[in-house]
Amino acid sequence: MDTYLITRYQDARTALADLRLSKDMYGAMDSYRKIFGESSVALDDHMLNSDPPKHTRLRRLVNSEFTPHRVESLRTHIQDVVGRLLDDCPVREPVDLLPAFAFPLPIIVICELLGVPPHDRADVQTWSTTVAQTGFSKESKLAQQNAEESLHGYFADLVAHKRDHPDEDLLSALTAARDENGRLTEQELISTAFLLMFAGHKTTAYLIGNAVHHLLTHPDQLRAVQQDPQLVGQAVEELLRYDGSVETATFRFATEDLEIAGTRIPKGSLVQIALNSANRDPLKFDTPDRFDVLRPGNTQSAHLGFGHGIHYCLGAPLARLETQLALTGLFERFPRVAPADPDREPPWMVVPFPAFRGLTELPVILDPAGP
Ligand code: HEM
Repeated sequence: MDTYLITRYQDARTALADLRLSKDMYGAMDSYRKIFGESSVALDDHMLNSDPPKHTRLRRLVNSEFTPHRVESLRTHIQDVVGRLLDDCPVREPVDLLPAFAFPLPIIVICELLGVPPHDRADVQTWSTTVAQTGFSKESKLAQQNAEESLHGYFADLVAHKRDHPDEDLLSALTAARDENGRLTEQELISTAFLLMFAGHKTTAYLIGNAVHHLLTHPDQLRAVQQDPQLVGQAVEELLRYDGSVETATFRFATEDLEIAGTRIPKGSLVQIALNSANRDPLKFDTPDRFDVLRPGNTQSAHLGFGHGIHYCLGAPLARLETQLALTGLFERFPRVAPADPDREPPWMVVPFPAFRGLTELPVILDPAGP
């Protein structure tokens, strides 16, 4: 497929806020089908695939759950989950931190927030992973379709259950919003549950993996964070800039002929915005290829790791908190954590088109002894 790729910081930031670059997949169905085929849209009817005013309506419904204040109230709980996962890790022998730590943490947190019961989480995780596969072969398309149907059926049943047995969770609140005020359709409700599950899981897991890897391979930076634990927030922002887990933003479609950085982009074109490239633009960040947790000026809103504009990551406060607590928990418990094989760079995921940026394994040795 042909797409326009925007790589410079200023162009990327401007494009992310340009509403002529639409996210409304229904308005661009022809282009959408050309890329993704005739796949079902049953799970795709959500805010990340829509423009205002629909986007505003759908986002507002879940926004309050993700405010920094609401998310901060989850701190102790997330710390407990981090502690439990680390308790279960074997010590003084190689352990792959991705399946043991980085992946389960965000899954547990998002499932609890949504109200997915513990005994269903493994299935939901497997289906979401299959849906997220980026393969274009016939087999992989079929597997995606089956997983999509399973997820759709699962969330439809869960919504029905929440209707009869409402709880304190987000899915119960959204179901009530649908039933009492008709503020979203059944398909939007199920798609929103799917989006939160999908967007809140791998993104955070890969960021935790990238973060641990870069801190282990930059011992001076790790030492700085260990000596001053207050630095962890700044370190996470630098990690989002230096090697964020969402390499390019999701597809956008030009709704009219437009020009970006001197390039004409005809109406109907597909446009991608390379967030990680923009975050290494020397016109914005000095010595951008240097990982520096003390980098001045890389505030939360400076880098584009969570996007920009109306689709700016809804879960950013949660993702920040989870990553900070994961790093703090890991390096406090195991101050001398080290790569299992220091001479070998762990493998990075290869996908047909850039989307997520993350490792496929992260073998380390956890040593509880202090420095
Ligand atoms: C480190 C972890 C994460 C990263 C790097 C990340 C990154 C992003 C980015 C770049 C976008 C904008 C995409 C675009 O404009 O095309 C986005 C949107 C979104 N993210 Fe995240 N995300 C993370 C974690 C989360 C979490 C934990 C949740 C929720 C539980 C979440 C929910 C969402 C939602 C709902 C949107 C769509 C917002 C909208 O369309 O208005 N994300 N995320």
